[in-house]
Amino acid sequence: MIIRNDVQLAGLQRTGKLVAQVLLAMQAHARPGMSTAELDEYGGQLLTRAGAESAPRSCYEFPGHTCISINEEAAHGIPGQRVMRAGDLVNIDVSASLDGYFADTGGSFVLPGIDADHLLKHRLCAAALQARDAGIAAVRAGQQLNIIGRLIERTINSAGFRNVRNLCGHGTGAALHEEPTMRNYHDPRDNQMLQEGQVITIEPFLSTNVSRVHEANDGWTLVGRPSSLFAQFEHTLVVRQGAPLIITTP
Ligand code: CO
Ligand code: CO
Repeated sequence: MIIRNDVQLAGLQRTGKLVAQVLLAMQAHARPGMSTAELDEYGGQLLTRAGAESAPRSCYEFPGHTCISINEEAAHGIPGQRVMRAGDLVNIDVSASLDGYFADTGGSFVLPGIDADHLLKHRLCAAALQARDAGIAAVRAGQQLNIIGRLIERTINSAGFRNVRNLCGHGTGAALHEEPTMRNYHDPRDNQMLQEGQVITIEPFLSTNVSRVHEANDGWTLVGRPSSLFAQFEHTLVVRQGAPLIITTP
C-alpha cells in the first residue's frame, strides 16, 4: 500500500510495533527442550490478546500463528512436535493484521549451547542482518529496486554465503503480500522504482550452500537440496524521500 496520511501511518505502526514485540518475546521465550508448537502457541496468544490476526493463518490458512524454521528449514516451517535443541539455529517470522493493517517481521538466532556448526550459524546470522541493513540503507523514493537487490546480493557474497534467489521481499500494508516483488539480486528486466509512502519489506535469505529452496513434503516448509543452513532478517518499512521509516520496531 501507499501511505497517504497520518491515520494510515499510525494504523500501520500499531501493527508493526505489535509484531516486533511478539518476535522479541518469542525469541526470549524459546529454549532447548521446547517444541515449536509450544513456542508458536505463546506467540499466538500474544497476537490474540492484542486483537490481531495471524497473517499467514488468515491469508493462506497456514497451520500455525507464526512460521518457525529450524536449522535446515529456510522458511514457512510449521510449528509442531519438533523439539528445539541446544545450539539450534531458529528463524521466527511474525506477520499479522490489526484493524486492516498488515506488518511482517522475522529474525534468526542461535539457541544457547555449542554444536559442531556453532560458529558458522552465528556468522550466518550476522551476515543476514548485515545484508538486510545494507538493503534498508539504500531505500528511498525514486530508488531502483535493482540497486537495492544488487547491494543485498553483494553483501551476502562478500560474507562468503549464498543468496537464496527464489525468496524475496514484497509490498505489504493492506494485505500480507502485495506488489512490488523486492528481489534480493539485480534483475535487468526490472525497471521499477520505489515510491514515496510505499510499504515494503526487505528480507534477504542466506544459505551456507544453496541458492534456491524447494517445498518439502508437508506442502509448506522450504528446504535446500542438498541440505543447508539458512538465516533471514526482515523489516517492514515506509519509503520516504530520505531514510525509510522502519515500522517493525518494538
Ligand atoms: Co515475514
Ligand atoms: Co515477508
